[in-house]
Amino acid sequence: MIVRPRRLRQTPAIRNMVAETRLSSDMLVYPVFIREGHGILEDIPSLPGQKRYSPDTFPRILEQMSAAGVSSVLLFGLPEHKDEVGTGAWEENGVIQQALRIGKKEFPNLTFIGDVCMCEYTSHGHCGILHGHEVDNDETLEYLTRIAVSQAAAGADIVAPSDMMDGHVAAIRAGLDAAGMKNKIIFSYAVKYASAFYGPFRDAAGSAPAFGDRRAYQMDPRNVREGLKEAEIDIDEGADLVMVKPGLLYLDVLRAVKEISPVPVGTYCVSGEYAMIKAAAANGRIDEQRAVSEAAFSLARAGADVIITYSALDLARWLRDGKIAF
Ligand code: PBG
Repeated sequence: MIVRPRRLRQTPAIRNMVAETRLSSDMLVYPVFIREGHGILEDIPSLPGQKRYSPDTFPRILEQMSAAGVSSVLLFGLPEHKDEVGTGAWEENGVIQQALRIGKKEFPNLTFIGDVCMCEYTSHGHCGILHGHEVDNDETLEYLTRIAVSQAAAGADIVAPSDMMDGHVAAIRAGLDAAGMKNKIIFSYAVKYASAFYGPFRDAAGSAPAFGDRRAYQMDPRNVREGLKEAEIDIDEGADLVMVKPGLLYLDVLRAVKEISPVPVGTYCVSGEYAMIKAAAANGRIDEQRAVSEAAFSLARAGADVIITYSALDLARWLRDGKIAF
C-alpha cells in the first residue's frame, strides 16, 4: 500500500497540523437574556448552565465573557409588561436599551448585537403586528425598524432581525440611515426555520405564541432552495451578514448558503440543540466537552464564519486552555 491515510492521524500534533477546520473564540457570539428589574441572577431551568440577568447585573457576564475571550454578545429582552404592539421592544428605556447603555459604557470594546423581534414583547407572542390571527408583514416592518433604530441608538453595534418578515432588511437599513446610523451593521436571520428546537428558548424568554405557531412566517424545514432565495433577498437588501438557524440540523443549508454568499455567514446553535447535548451529558450518555466541541467544529466545517452558541464561554475557555483534542 502506498497511500495510507492513517499516517496523518498518528499523533495529536500531526492531526492538529493538518486539520482542515480551525475554530477561534473570535468567531463566537454568546446569547444573553436580560429581564427587567434589579439584582437578577436566575438560573434558566430549560437551559442548564444559562442565567437571566437584569441590566445592572449584565456587566457580570460581560466580565466573564471578556476574561474567556468572547467578544460578542447577542441580547434578548424580557420586559415587565407586554402589549399588542410590543412597546417594550422599542421604548427608549426598554430593558434591552438599558442593558445596551450599561454594557457599552462598561465594556466599550465588546460587540453588542440586539435581537430584533417582537415575540418577547407582544402579549400574543407572535413576531409581528396581528390582524385577527394573521401577522401583517408590511405593518410589522415599521415596528421592526423602530426596534432596530432604538437598539442602535442605545449602543448596539449590530442589529439582528429574527422576525422573518419579507422586506425587513431594506426597511431597517433605511431606518438606520435616516437616523444617521449608516455604519450600524445588519446581521439578518435570513434563513430561519420553523423549528421544534426553539422550545427551551421560548421558556427562557417567555415568548411562546399564545395561539398557533410561526409556520406562516418562518421557513419550512423541508426546503433548501428557498433558503438560498431568502439569503439572496436579504443580501440584496443590504444585510452585512446572514444567518442559518438552527445550525446543527441544517448543516446542508449552511453549506449551500456559504457557497453562494458574498457576505459572512453565521449560524445559531439553538436552545434545543444545546439542551439535547446537556441532557445526554447529564445522563452520562455522551461526553459533554467532546460533544460540544465536535458540534462547534461541525458548524465551522459546514461553512460558518460566525457561531452563536450558549456554549461560547465553555468553548473559548477550552480553546484557550488547549483542552480541545481530536
Ligand atoms: C425570536 C427568536 C427566537 C430564537 C431567536 N430569536 C425564537 C423563535 O423564533 O421562536 C430562538 C433561539 C434559540 O432557540 O436558541 N424570534
